[in-house]
Amino acid sequence: MPTPAATPSARSGIRVRPLTEHIGAEVENVDLSRPISPAEFEDINDALVPHSVLVFRDQDLPPAMHVDFSARFGRLVGHLVKRFSVEDYPEVTYISNVRNEKGEMIGADRAGMVWHSDMSYFPRPMLGSMLYGVECPPEGADTEFASMFAAHDALPPSLHALLARSRGVHDYAWHYATYLSHRPPLTEDEKAKAPPVAHPALRTHPVSGRKAVYLSEGLTRTVEGMDEEAGRRLVVEVSQFATQPQFVYRHKWRPRALVFWDNRSTMHRATEFDNRHRRLMRRTTVEGDVPF
Ligand code: OGA
Ligand code: MN
Repeated sequence: MPTPAATPSARSGIRVRPLTEHIGAEVENVDLSRPISPAEFEDINDALVPHSVLVFRDQDLPPAMHVDFSARFGRLVGHLVKRFSVEDYPEVTYISNVRNEKGEMIGADRAGMVWHSDMSYFPRPMLGSMLYGVECPPEGADTEFASMFAAHDALPPSLHALLARSRGVHDYAWHYATYLSHRPPLTEDEKAKAPPVAHPALRTHPVSGRKAVYLSEGLTRTVEGMDEEAGRRLVVEVSQFATQPQFVYRHKWRPRALVFWDNRSTMHRATEFDNRHRRLMRRTTVEGDVPF
């Protein structure tokens, strides 16, 4: 596909260049190391909804500026596991395979290897997430993003009708026990902070009104009111349908890139890499609305 020309914004000078047919855009001519202007904020905010994933390359983003930029979009929510936070910045989480001098993991290791939308297990899941690459392996450790708008629009009618009246059960304790057994188990206190919650299987984007698939293999345990196993099979079937290659943008990390994604209209997953390489990422998450 030829690269579409970037359209500079008259109000801020920012350029937004789409990366694939359905999802992803590169945002150019903005410097996130200083507070952005109201015009820059408006342009970035307007670009997020149609493109779902925004990539900002070559950015200096110390934790204080990461927080400053993220907080323009809403309330920040730190990781439920407090020891993954960046020193002095409870809202910034390390996503990393790096260990401290005591041999402990400093951040969430092997986070998000299965398709998911961030913190969908809360009653008010995240509007967006911002992940910044500090140290990135030379190969692998890409992050894949799938458009749940495009997936929704491609659903076969019978599946669409079923999902339109279904609610997924999102369950962090189940997710942790199933996919994160390499980590120390969640404490009872941590578990109590995220009891299972049901959300519509198809949600309406609060800004654009577009419908999106909102079931994920990684965080949706089953479907409310269905037999546990049958509900699980439906979740996996829908999640696999929704993450076909034509709906996906695959981000290859270089240090100093920030990726800002809309959790209301995407799923994402981390991919494998050679664990002898260090991977050090910092993440913030911005709270959204109750899904409807
Ligand atoms: C996340 C996540 C994927 C990755 O930070 O929410 O899922 O590639 N990360 O690190
Ligand atoms: Mn994630």
